[in-house]
Amino acid sequence: MDSPAIRDRTVLVTGGAGFIGSHLVDALTPYNDVRVLDDFSTGERARLPEDVTVIDGDVRDPIALQRAARGVDVIFHHAAIVSVTQSVDRPRQSNETNLGAGLLVLEQARQEDARVVVASSAAIYGHPDQLPVSETASANPTSPYGVQKLALDRYSQLYAELYDLPTVSLRYFNVYGPRQRGPYSGVIATFLEQARAGEPITIDGDGTQTRDFVHVSDVVRANLQAATTDAVGRAYNIGTGTRTSVGDLADTIRDAVGSSSRIVHRESRSGDIEHSVADVSRAERELGFEARVDLESGIHSLATEDEIATVPTEPGASDD
Ligand code: NAD
Ligand code: UD1
Repeated sequence: MDSPAIRDRTVLVTGGAGFIGSHLVDALTPYNDVRVLDDFSTGERARLPEDVTVIDGDVRDPIALQRAARGVDVIFHHAAIVSVTQSVDRPRQSNETNLGAGLLVLEQARQEDARVVVASSAAIYGHPDQLPVSETASANPTSPYGVQKLALDRYSQLYAELYDLPTVSLRYFNVYGPRQRGPYSGVIATFLEQARAGEPITIDGDGTQTRDFVHVSDVVRANLQAATTDAVGRAYNIGTGTRTSVGDLADTIRDAVGSSSRIVHRESRSGDIEHSVADVSRAERELGFEARVDLESGIHSLATEDEIATVPTEPGASDD
């Protein structure tokens, strides 16, 4: 059993009412003074424990951010417009949140002398030259979202070099798990909803595109490791190293739910990446990160609503 390596700190989670942010808040809350800055655009208040300080505000607003970040030791920056499709439809709007606000967070961290853990993305790589993709691969994003995340990822490393700010950029691959829902949520949540309702499962394109699906409990653990590592000013891939096609995913989910949903194909998405899978060796070596939940068990637990714990439970034990 492992415990959070971070304790007795004041921390801010931007986007803490969201899917990933709220799981992170659950893991941090028992041992730290936790604040959440969220505008509840996709986040939900009901996801947050009672003993968290909630600032209902926009991360693009420097005053709200200043108030939320006063005196914090660590900022976990998760607030973003996460849908690639939304960024294709409204690039300027998503840029303001995904890049503009990210820069404000880095500036605010300088004022507070706080560490920043940035939620970056595999979307920065675009169509990679080689698979699995390592952190040193060339970045050729295929969407405004990918460009915005790439710029923020680079800024966070630059702030470490120029201003000695301890930053860590976590490049998540495709995250899934409990609480992921809504019209712009990930493919696993969408397919599960469709399979449960007996509605057609909608595959974009031919379904041969692949992704590296990583469970949210693993992503939370990577954040806890990033909060204390000495290896700052670095970016890390956070995935499993295994890739799965969207077509196979549809079959697996249909079987796990025991659904008779039909599978239908639509146009492929504009800005979509074809193949994506992480080389996680840097995160293993430098953060001690290792994904523990394989896709089959992760989907099984979602289909049966048998939750995989995301909150470490033994305060006395050291992290492994
Ligand atoms: P989410 O939409 O559930 O969470 C985002 C949160 O940010 C929400 O609570 C939302 O209300 C809040 N938010 C949005 N705009 C805001 C604003 N202007 N001011 C304040 N709050 C705002 O998404 P998620 O899947 O939990 O993603 C969290 C982070 O991880 C994002 O930065 C995303 O880009 C990144 N990420 C996610 C994935 C994934 O597969 N889900 C993969 C790679 C990176
Ligand atoms: C996701 C994240 C993004 C993150 C990136 C990292 C969401 C909403 N997006 O983007 O924030 O940075 O991973 O890799 O979580 N698909 C279908 N049918 C559907 C829905 C999706 O076939 O009904 C397909 C898509 O066309 C795509 C794949 O499934 O090929 C994955 O889509 P999605 O879950 O939206 O994630 P990404 O675009 O990879």
